[in-house]
Amino acid sequence: MIYGAILAGGVGTRMHVSTMPKQFLPLGNKPIIIHTLEKMLACNQFRAVYLGIHPDWMSYMYDLLEKYRLDIDRVRLAPGGETRNDTIFKVIEEINRDYGANDDDIIVTHDAVRPFVTLRIIEENIAMAQKYGACDTVICATDTIVRSENGEEISDIPDRRFMYQGQTPQSFQVKMLKELYEQLTESEKDILTDACKICVMKNVPVKLVMGENLNMKITTVNDYQIAKVIVGGMGID
Ligand code: CTP
Repeated sequence: MIYGAILAGGVGTRMHVSTMPKQFLPLGNKPIIIHTLEKMLACNQFRAVYLGIHPDWMSYMYDLLEKYRLDIDRVRLAPGGETRNDTIFKVIEEINRDYGANDDDIIVTHDAVRPFVTLRIIEENIAMAQKYGACDTVICATDTIVRSENGEEISDIPDRRFMYQGQTPQSFQVKMLKELYEQLTESEKDILTDACKICVMKNVPVKLVMGENLNMKITTVNDYQIAKVIVGGMGID
């Protein structure tokens, strides 16, 4: 079985909006998270699409589902966790409770705040995770990446040809991801902010799927303004 997991357990501190987490802010005629959910539901390979929602916002999300009348037979809610990875594993727990665990289960994890993901990217993630077990969505770095350890002077300028920017989805064979995570120490878990890094730390290859510039993450007010312009240009304002 193949499952979608939309990660929406964060509060969006870098957005500096006090009223609600950024995934619920309006974008054109509906909240950001509804755009993202619609993109995931457009992929009919998903048995279900899970929303890992911040525990304080579960009933708000239920109301949104009712309001926007989506294909709710395929939508499930799970309470999010303390960190992004915790949210992923909470969703996996919920999947196992609802449908049991099968060796070849695939999970396609996607940030709630990347509403412009395409069906092509989702389908390539599924195909890659089925074939190889793990994949990440990336775009080629266009700017030169400058590394600085102290924030004051350059430590290194890596060769741009080998640099990519990570996006989501990130997709995994569920059984493998769980087994790798269980092998990590608590301090290793603490420093992991990225699910693909769980595989990288354990020397499990992670394949690359080409993303799109448009598949941006809404992190700051500036990103939010850009997203509004994009949606306006698409004529869904
Ligand atoms: N996320 C999550 N569970 C958490 C933390 C983050 O599901 N405990 C999700 C966010 O809701 C978001 C995605 O991971 O959709 C990407 O994270 P980020 O942009 O960092 O979101 P926030 O953690 O909400 O933002 P900030 O770091 O500014 O607080």
